[in-house]
Amino acid sequence: MNRYDDPSLLLEKLKEYEGIVGWKSPSNIALIKYWGKYANQIPLNPSISFTLSQAFTQTTISYHSKIKRSEKVETTFYFEGKLNQEFAKRVKNYLDALLPIFPFLTQLDLTIKSDNSFPHSSGIASSASSMSALALCLCSMEKQLFGTLEDKDEFFRKASFVARMGSGSACRSIYPKAAIWGESIDYEESSDFYAIPAKLALHEKFRRFRDDILIVSKEAKSISSSDGHKIMSNHVFREPRISQAKKRLHFLLKALKEGNYNRFGEIVEKEALTLHGMMMTSTPAYILMEPNTIKIIQEIQNFRNMTGLPVYFSLDAGPNVHMLYPASIEDKVHAFVENDLVKYCKNGEYIKDYLGSGPMELDFH
Ligand code: DP6
Repeated sequence: MNRYDDPSLLLEKLKEYEGIVGWKSPSNIALIKYWGKYANQIPLNPSISFTLSQAFTQTTISYHSKIKRSEKVETTFYFEGKLNQEFAKRVKNYLDALLPIFPFLTQLDLTIKSDNSFPHSSGIASSASSMSALALCLCSMEKQLFGTLEDKDEFFRKASFVARMGSGSACRSIYPKAAIWGESIDYEESSDFYAIPAKLALHEKFRRFRDDILIVSKEAKSISSSDGHKIMSNHVFREPRISQAKKRLHFLLKALKEGNYNRFGEIVEKEALTLHGMMMTSTPAYILMEPNTIKIIQEIQNFRNMTGLPVYFSLDAGPNVHMLYPASIEDKVHAFVENDLVKYCKNGEYIKDYLGSGPMELDFH
């Protein structure tokens, strides 16, 4: 039994319930990567991410008491306005797994509607935003139906816990600006079970950071992140990777606190390359970077060397490049993007994102 299992969260029979809840929740970019996990979505190593703003999922759940009683979770799932069986299956499996935490879900008919601000096939990880939005909705339902989770910190902690069970990285999207997930000696309150807010760990110089997401490819990945995590279990570099990530988190936290751009960039870029290095040295070995990924990385490094401006890259588990830099040099960086980088982007596309203020509850009144 985990700390959130609560078999008493059941609705009074014969009473009619109906309502609607909704959240808009952003994606995030990991600076120290979560890569590899134990059972039940427990990470091999701690991670830290910047919470984004423009790449988000908006989800609503409308619910009413079931007409016909059953012990199953009943949902209808719409993605971008259309019934979507594939996603519906994933969501249903997820809700089934959450029954010890939200047993009332079997007592209601649910209609879930979800929309992304970015094209689903843009290669942008959508599980962080979608699973965090869904987890927040479930906590709002609990609050609406049972009057629990009134305490804000407890509400978000539970939402992060529940989001983690859907997708590990989703647990970090719950908090504004930055979040840490996974036990770390550098952060006393940190936990493997949920993320914690790390906004205060950021020096002023990092609070208005930009993340331009340069879309290199929109193709589905040859190996999903979930499979990538599994492959880490027997990776020849598994143990050194775990201790490396812990060490890097220590030094990154120091750089973030001191406002040290150089040190920040050095660690973040190494992390991105390590993530892909792990993929290239695993069994099976695979490559998710594309030739244009490398071109963009080299252009960013050249631009930094020539101008001395603090512009750095990071990568997700895919070919797209995240370009991180302070808002104060935005104009110069956008000129650089237009002149030197868009030619490497699929259809010249890139998304201008930035550190955001975290998820937002939708108001239906
Ligand atoms: C490379 O959170 O997508 O983006 O827990 O299996 O859903 P699951 O994996 P997911 O993995 C994200 C991996 C990463 C690094 C990170 O976000 O920390």
